[in-house]
Amino acid sequence: MKRFRRLRTSESIRSLVRETRVSKNDLMYPIFVKEGENIKEEISSMPGIYRYSTDRLDEELDRIIKAGINSILIFGIPAHKDEKGSEAYNDKGVTQTAIRHIKEKYPKLIVAADVCLCEYTSHGHCGVVHDCYVDNDETLELLCRSSVSLAKAGADIIAPSDMMDGRVGAIREALDKNGFINTVIMAYSAKFASAYYGPFREAADSSPQFGDRKSYQMDIANKNEALREIEADIEEGADIVMVKPALAFLDILKEAALIYNMPFAVYNVSGEYSMVKAAAQMGWIDEKKIVLENITAMKRAGAKIIITYHALDAAQWLEEQ
Ligand code: PBG
Ligand code: ZN
Repeated sequence: MKRFRRLRTSESIRSLVRETRVSKNDLMYPIFVKEGENIKEEISSMPGIYRYSTDRLDEELDRIIKAGINSILIFGIPAHKDEKGSEAYNDKGVTQTAIRHIKEKYPKLIVAADVCLCEYTSHGHCGVVHDCYVDNDETLELLCRSSVSLAKAGADIIAPSDMMDGRVGAIREALDKNGFINTVIMAYSAKFASAYYGPFREAADSSPQFGDRKSYQMDIANKNEALREIEADIEEGADIVMVKPALAFLDILKEAALIYNMPFAVYNVSGEYSMVKAAAQMGWIDEKKIVLENITAMKRAGAKIIITYHALDAAQWLEEQ
């Protein structure tokens, strides 16, 4: 008889043969920075996650450093929105100002900047809109300006999340031309038009004012197309490729990670966080165990980087294990 249970008899032996371990170094923590002063607002659908103004950000940064988290993903929420999302490429914009502050205070903390126009446009779409259609090529130009402006502010990683065609190549060229040859591109390569982004859109005030994002984000049913998107981003110069959301798309991550010899990131998105939080608050699940199980599954499926709102708690829990 094969006695598989032999290796399960104690925690010590289980630990010895354990195949997958998440490390604090794998975790990237998203933060929301809002233009203004003295702001700390909890996002109602995301308990424990806040919008901070830059002058109140230190409290959050200190928690991040104390937890031993090495990387963050920053989202800016500007006071002024317009048709072309101009605050996204204003060198003095809210995101740029926050990044300068963070890099001054904690130069070693890796700062990734999400690059997209939806937080900055009055209509809430991820690009320039003409006749209700998001114009790809005109948007690319603005994404390039935004990327260069964020790199200039000190961002270590530029993370385009808009799903326009050709943006990785265009951004790489713009960064290089401006001397940012070492600025990393982490591409949201296979980003699906998912219902799991709901709470984020409340957090970032970025819901589309008409229609949806299905003409640029991917159809959730498509796997082969996801692989083509990932391949194209690698060819265009992405340093890190991402699959998003995480849990319902681990099959995509797994398949891609088997094919492409690249660092993969996975985004454990807002709706995934909210579901865990809500069930935990009801006393229906054990939050710590669920979170550790989820992030272990993401790593096992092939992710090196796990972007998660649970990062600070998870860092603590991983230590206790
Ligand atoms: C911006 C962007 C979104 C998310 C990350 N970058 C929202 C969207 O595409 O509507 C979602 C993150 C989350 O749900 O946690 N385009
Ligand atoms: Zn967007």
